[in-house]
Amino acid sequence: MTTTLKPIAMPTAGSPAGLLEAGTDFLSLRTLSRDGLRDLVELSLLAKAEPSRFSKALSGTSVALLFEKASLRTRAAFEVGINRLGGHSVYFDHNAGRLGERESVSDYAKNLERWFGLIVARTYRHATIEKLADASSVPVINALSDASHPCQALADTLTLVEHLGGFDALRGQKVAFVGDGNNVCVSFARAMALCGCETVVIAPEGYGIEDDIQAEIRAAANANGGVFESGADVSLVSGARAVYTDVWVSMGHEESVATRTRAFEPYRVDSSLMSHAADDALFLHCLPAKRGLEVTDEVIDAPGSVVFDQAENRMHTQNAVLLRQLGKA
Ligand code: CP
Ligand code: NVA
Repeated sequence: MTTTLKPIAMPTAGSPAGLLEAGTDFLSLRTLSRDGLRDLVELSLLAKAEPSRFSKALSGTSVALLFEKASLRTRAAFEVGINRLGGHSVYFDHNAGRLGERESVSDYAKNLERWFGLIVARTYRHATIEKLADASSVPVINALSDASHPCQALADTLTLVEHLGGFDALRGQKVAFVGDGNNVCVSFARAMALCGCETVVIAPEGYGIEDDIQAEIRAAANANGGVFESGADVSLVSGARAVYTDVWVSMGHEESVATRTRAFEPYRVDSSLMSHAADDALFLHCLPAKRGLEVTDEVIDAPGSVVFDQAENRMHTQNAVLLRQLGKA
């Protein structure tokens, strides 16, 4: 008689209520509702305050971590976080050989699901994560793709919740993202839209969020009592309670360093730019930062900088995602 290890979870495209349900993938904030975001923030706060309640939640569960790109925060937060939930992780270094090169992404997923209860993937192309998720019967988490960084946006939201007075207190607050309108920016803007913030994305011409994605974010903002606007003029930062930036050259765009540095030079977050934001404005950055380029030392090291809170919160929010996807909370 032969026995096989049967995969236990069947991911779906996302719940009708926009909640992150057991067995579902977490690839983007696109399928999350305001209630879904609030639920993850509240569970993160609980896991952060009372870690012992969840210290055996992932007992017997192994998680695969597939990384095509470098990482400090995401890898550390998943490895330490999974350990603190009583689970176990295995890191697969795909910096040299990309997913799909040695064997198809689909075959890769169908092997992994026989040993692992969940797959975390950081890839260059978002389509690679979608292929993994389509082929896999266990949940998949996007740990950064060219399109989005949903785990980062959850940590950003938790950090703002902690510093600006709670989830509901975020509604109507002005937050500004200054810089490249790619993965981190898109996910942050989606999260802020669900929070009902007045969100403004300020980027050089040609580097803003794509128009169709802007339309989705604007619709989500309007549905949740917020506003979304975008432009190239840094004076749009006026009055913002929080200012966020990211590197000018993301992983995978290294060939365009010179062009990008020229385009983004006027968008450096320095004391002069911050003087147009609210007096007590917070500064956010997903990190790693290129000090002296997108942000100056005096801003990232100022008392209003919450960048290391964001980094710590990566673990608490990712743990909430794992607990929900695996049906352990
Ligand atoms: N913010 C973030 O994702 O950092 P890493 O690239 O170090 O994981
Ligand atoms: N936008 C950056 C984020 C790194 C966490 C990148 O994609 O490299």
